[in-house]
Amino acid sequence: ALVSMKEMLEKGKKEGYAVGQFNINNLEFTQAILQAAEEEKSPVILGVSEGAAKYMGGFTTVVHMVKGLMVDYNITVPVAIHLDHGSSFEKCKAAIDAGFTSVMIDASHHPFEENVEITSKVVEYAHAHNVSVEAELGTVGGQEDDVIADGVIYADPTECADLVKRTAIDCLAPALGSVHGPYKGEPNLGFKEMEEISKLADLPLVLHGGTGIPTKDITRAISLGTAKINVNTENQISATKAIREYLAANEHQYDPRKYLIPARDAIKATVIGKMREFGSSNKA
Ligand code: G3H
Ligand code: ZN
Repeated sequence: ALVSMKEMLEKGKKEGYAVGQFNINNLEFTQAILQAAEEEKSPVILGVSEGAAKYMGGFTTVVHMVKGLMVDYNITVPVAIHLDHGSSFEKCKAAIDAGFTSVMIDASHHPFEENVEITSKVVEYAHAHNVSVEAELGTVGGQEDDVIADGVIYADPTECADLVKRTAIDCLAPALGSVHGPYKGEPNLGFKEMEEISKLADLPLVLHGGTGIPTKDITRAISLGTAKINVNTENQISATKAIREYLAANEHQYDPRKYLIPARDAIKATVIGKMREFGSSNKA
């Protein structure tokens, strides 16, 4: 069923697992992720960046595609369609109006008081439509679509507590050293801050930049209140690798369905692996 993230994340936090947000880029990503979730009996969050939505046609196309697949594939597990790194109130509103069940307002690059103000406005509109809201503080490193960071800024635990108290958000993404795209070396996540934030603000935390984080760090983050982990790059890498291998071995093949099937299988296998690692399998 198409739902917001609220209940799936609260259950995850209470029972000690994280729900994966897997970003969709096209039809095949969406097929693979929905099938993985259904097979694993796992709740799932389909992350849609503004760039990916634009690529696919727009917010309405995305909602109709997801709804159509859920009918054709008989999807019974909880599914959220979530705007990833929403850049403004207007974008969040447009996604909600098109049928998204969850949004992230990423006002983290604004001064704190402005972040509170923009986030509150999004929460007010979203909650009136039964839509969940994720907010961010600090800066996630690396680059994802148009979201480019100059560097990594760790979220301040006191500001996190203040934002949560003043906005009624459903989950919080405190940037604590994670990076979009591959890491250069081992990630250095701020677990001390994560623990402090969890103590100060009792709500599910979100970990961005899930690609390349070792299992021991995933487990530790979950034990400190992380209930949502975002993964995009790893699926892109496995899909592209499968296409390269297929085309190298089948030089004369030109039917996209032929090389997109191995890509779809690769995404599905990657997502299943993550669901097991995050502990969300059999939790639907
Ligand atoms: O918002 C999306 C994620 O944070 C994805 O990060 O591409 O490094 O897996 P990733
Ligand atoms: Zn992110």
